[in-house]
Amino acid sequence: MFSKLRKKDFILFLAVVLTIIFIILVFQDKEEYQTVPEPMPVHYNGEQFAGSASCIPCHQDIYQNHLKTAHFNTSAIADGETLHGHFNQSSNKVELLDGTVHTYFDENGYFQAIKSKTNGEVLDVSRIDMVIGSGVKGQSHLNFSGDSLFQLQASYFTLSDSWINSPGFPNHKYKRPVNDNCIKCHTTFAQNKDRKGNSNLYERESFMYGIDCERCHGPLKKHVAYRNGILGELKSDVVIKIDTLSRQLKMDVCVQCHSGLRAIQIKDNPFSFVVGEQLDTYTRNYRFGRPESKLDVHGNQYGLLKSSQCFKNSEAMSCTTCHDPHKNQRGKTEHFNSKCIECHASPKNLHNTENLISQNLDNCISCHMPLFPSQTMKVKLDADSAETSIKIRTHLIGVYVDGILQNTKTSP
Ligand code: HEC
Ligand code: HEC
Ligand code: HEC
Ligand code: HEC
Ligand code: HEC
Ligand code: HEC
Ligand code: HEC
Repeated sequence: MFSKLRKKDFILFLAVVLTIIFIILVFQDKEEYQTVPEPMPVHYNGEQFAGSASCIPCHQDIYQNHLKTAHFNTSAIADGETLHGHFNQSSNKVELLDGTVHTYFDENGYFQAIKSKTNGEVLDVSRIDMVIGSGVKGQSHLNFSGDSLFQLQASYFTLSDSWINSPGFPNHKYKRPVNDNCIKCHTTFAQNKDRKGNSNLYERESFMYGIDCERCHGPLKKHVAYRNGILGELKSDVVIKIDTLSRQLKMDVCVQCHSGLRAIQIKDNPFSFVVGEQLDTYTRNYRFGRPESKLDVHGNQYGLLKSSQCFKNSEAMSCTTCHDPHKNQRGKTEHFNSKCIECHASPKNLHNTENLISQNLDNCISCHMPLFPSQTMKVKLDADSAETSIKIRTHLIGVYVDGILQNTKTSP
């Protein structure tokens, strides 16, 4: 009888251990990259993607760091982990002209529902299938109706920790079709059923979520094969060494997404451009006005930086002078200030105003790249309060007094 009990205990013990191992495995799985397409999609240039899991054996550090970036987390399959807003809270809603948006979840997933204000009739129920935005500023929700992709009425606004009417949406029941022009900046790849990328009809299984390695480095199946010794016809590696490119080509990698919406398509489709090519032959911006006037959620860091004296007067400055594309550096003020000092070696000599000398000069960016309130991402926290905006860091480096740029030097 004693040994019988032991046996029972042992089985129980084994069950517990197995459960723990199972949980760890599942947990590890979550830490790794999200659902990947099978087979890997082929880019419009004919090259096949490898998927970032295949980079791990040789570029492990970069891979691990990259998992924590806003880029990697900027789009995902919607679930309890990737969605940041609150669900099933009746107080948390968005009032429209004719209805009210509620967010809820049940065993079938996460939803946005719009009910009429007059008779409570349900005007729309849409499942949240995809989330856009890592949540630094906010998140938008996308829904698949069949193979058609739509953006939904309410978005999550991080600053107020609440739902708002999606930026740019009219104040009534509304769904916006989502074409490649919207998702090209928030995913690695997606196969549109229209070759020009103008439709909102997609091969659902082709989505490569997040801005992953191959969004910036191009599809690299051949590089992986080459480095694994599967040479085939290859005589040399195909991977482009970005740091050997000219400044413009190097920046074009970032500029494709960080120079405003760039919605004029000159050639091919929104996903066609790959590193090493000239971006201007593919896309242009609609707005040609002052870059600083378009300082917003979809900011034009490129336009602003290009207008700065630092950029104009140095051969080498590019986005990666200050940003490591593989690391999450938000809030790393010391790192950014150290970059200024690499070129402006003795800041004390640059500042002659008496009262400035007494101030702490260490935080260069607080004065020369100040934060400005966003024009579109603002919300009233409650009926009595003034509107609150998220703040965006200007890339027009310069001398500011009371938020106004001083023209210390006339542009060359
Ligand atoms: C079997 C090993 C291996 C795999 C797998 C691999 N790489 Fe590489 N990668 C290398 C080696 C070796 C180099 C050459 C390094 C050098 O020349 O200094 C390289 C170079 C690179 C470079 C250019 C580096 C430079 O000098 O600018 C990039 C970018 C790159 N790999 C990205 C990737 C990505 C993205 C993946 C996954 C899709 C990947 N690699 C998979 C081994 C690998
Ligand atoms: C030209 C590229 C581009 C396009 C097109 C674009 N975005 Fe963005 N989006 C960005 C960039 C870059 C940011 C980061 C903010 C910035 O500019 O500093 C961003 C930020 C966001 C954020 C906030 C993310 C966060 O975590 O704070 C959301 C939400 C968002 N975009 C949704 C959308 C939706 C929905 C569409 C389509 C209607 C869209 N974007 C189209 C480039 C783009
Ligand atoms: C947002 C764009 C972007 C993403 C995403 C990205 N890279 Fe890079 N990567 C770059 C740029 C730009 C450079 C060149 C940096 C420079 O000029 O110093 C680079 C350089 C590299 C290099 C060579 C230099 C080094 O640091 O060793 C390797 C290898 C590399 N990337 C691999 C990867 C892998 C693997 C991933 C995914 C886990 C990845 N990259 C994701 C933009 C990106
Ligand atoms: C495919 C489009 C795309 C490319 C290419 C791209 N970015 Fe981004 N970037 C985004 C989007 C979208 C966001 C907002 C992510 C979010 O928070 O959801 C972003 C956010 C950022 C941020 C803010 C990160 C944070 O923690 O909030 C920095 C800095 C940045 N990008 C720099 C770069 C640099 C430098 C490059 C080039 C090496 C680059 N990006 C290439 C789309 C892109
Ligand atoms: C790659 C080198 C480089 C880096 C990095 C750099 N600058 Fe500059 N900066 C320059 C050059 C060159 C000029 C123009 C000549 C001058 O005034 O010294 C300049 C000009 C300036 C000016 C005068 C602007 C005007 O309108 O007259 C300010 C202010 C400034 N930089 C601040 C900064 C700050 C703050 C940083 C860090 C966020 C920074 N710089 C990073 C090279 C750089
Ligand atoms: C002289 C240094 C410098 C250069 C060059 C630079 N940045 Fe930045 N960038 C910064 C600093 C500083 C911040 C603020 C970081 C923080 O808040 O933690 C920033 C923030 C950002 C953000 C987040 C903006 C926000 O308000 O949320 C994006 C996106 C970005 N940079 C993109 C770029 C791109 C794209 C380029 C090239 C066109 C570029 N940066 C060049 C210094 C630089
Ligand atoms: C408290 C705000 C403040 C801080 C912090 C600050 N600056 Fe300045 N900076 C100014 C002002 C204002 C001027 C205009 C000249 C003056 O009034 O002294 C200026 C001028 C400059 C100039 C232009 C000089 C010229 O006329 O060509 C450069 C370059 C510069 N600062 C770099 C830096 C760097 C690098 C740091 C960080 C180590 C820094 N600043 C920190 C306020 C600041």
